[in-house]
Amino acid sequence: MTTTETSAKTPFENFLSEHGEEAWSATITTLLRSIHDVDKNATQIWFYFFPLSLFDAFEHADEPEPLAQQLLLRGNCHLKDQIDTSHTFLYGHRYWPEVNSAVTNHATNFNPSEARALSDQILSVAQEVAWKLKVDPSLVVGITAVAFMTMQQAGLVAFQAQGKMLLDKKHARKSPDQVLSERAKDDSQGLLGFLKTIDKKWTITYDENDAAAKYRMNNIQDLAWGAASDQSRNWREIDPRRCEGPIPVECRSASCGTCWVGILGGAEKLSDVAAREGKKIKEFGYIDTAEPKPLIRLACQAQTHGAVSIVIPPWNGVFGKYLRSLKQTQAEGFDSKTPVVNKQNPLASNDHCN
Ligand code: FES
Repeated sequence: MTTTETSAKTPFENFLSEHGEEAWSATITTLLRSIHDVDKNATQIWFYFFPLSLFDAFEHADEPEPLAQQLLLRGNCHLKDQIDTSHTFLYGHRYWPEVNSAVTNHATNFNPSEARALSDQILSVAQEVAWKLKVDPSLVVGITAVAFMTMQQAGLVAFQAQGKMLLDKKHARKSPDQVLSERAKDDSQGLLGFLKTIDKKWTITYDENDAAAKYRMNNIQDLAWGAASDQSRNWREIDPRRCEGPIPVECRSASCGTCWVGILGGAEKLSDVAAREGKKIKEFGYIDTAEPKPLIRLACQAQTHGAVSIVIPPWNGVFGKYLRSLKQTQAEGFDSKTPVVNKQNPLASNDHCN
């Protein structure tokens, strides 16, 4: 039995479920111009981290467990288990209790006969919250879009039972401009820094909500290599995928997809996506773009020449081919729900740490 079959959906949940990946993608494109710069990247990254098409694949799978194994999923990709925690990297997370409450209210009072476009509903709820909190609406639009998608994937009952803000007090007091200027700042290389060529050092921030969540790395090193020297915490205890350092890694050669990260700030300071990274990241299913410096990267391939702020997703997998195949099967009208790919994948072992 799938998650949504356990209880009848409300009219608002039915409205949301009419929106697939393409409708959401168009909605986010429309909303981007109304989202403050501090959350433009973060909102897009969040939608990459929790793809609706993967959620739908699980909803329609006869057996979720074998599907998770087939897609080599490690960590947790299910939003229903991380309703409050999945978006702490958005500036708008500080308004989460009010956004959660307003979206719950909107869902409860939803009248299908008066339904407006999804983007209009998101903007309207964001305006309402912003007015109540006396903040600029652009700071609330991204987190409100996240709330709508979270309700679509987790359901109204689970959604309304949550609503805690989880930010560190000091970080919560920062203004959007402060956050943006911290992201833009590069490390000083000392008085004669301009003469340095190969021995420059850069700071990588991997959780803006934790003042100690930073590591230093050498110029033109890849992000994962730099992270490996950070032994400040017991990484495996925090996340078994973290074999060394804060970024989960395995192959270090763009073969496994373990090390994907979102780039909150400093994407322009990373090397361009090379042919192999571009091809593999599409195969993994994380992103499909020809952009040279996208917001999603493989940390074992992206080399930096400046300070960067990243965000580490709570899971990884290999699902691009599976979802394309599923889409094609559905477009052709076949009833086969679970196309089988990658069955013999040599990476399908439980312990990936060497
Ligand atoms: S560690 Fe395997 S793709 Fe980067």
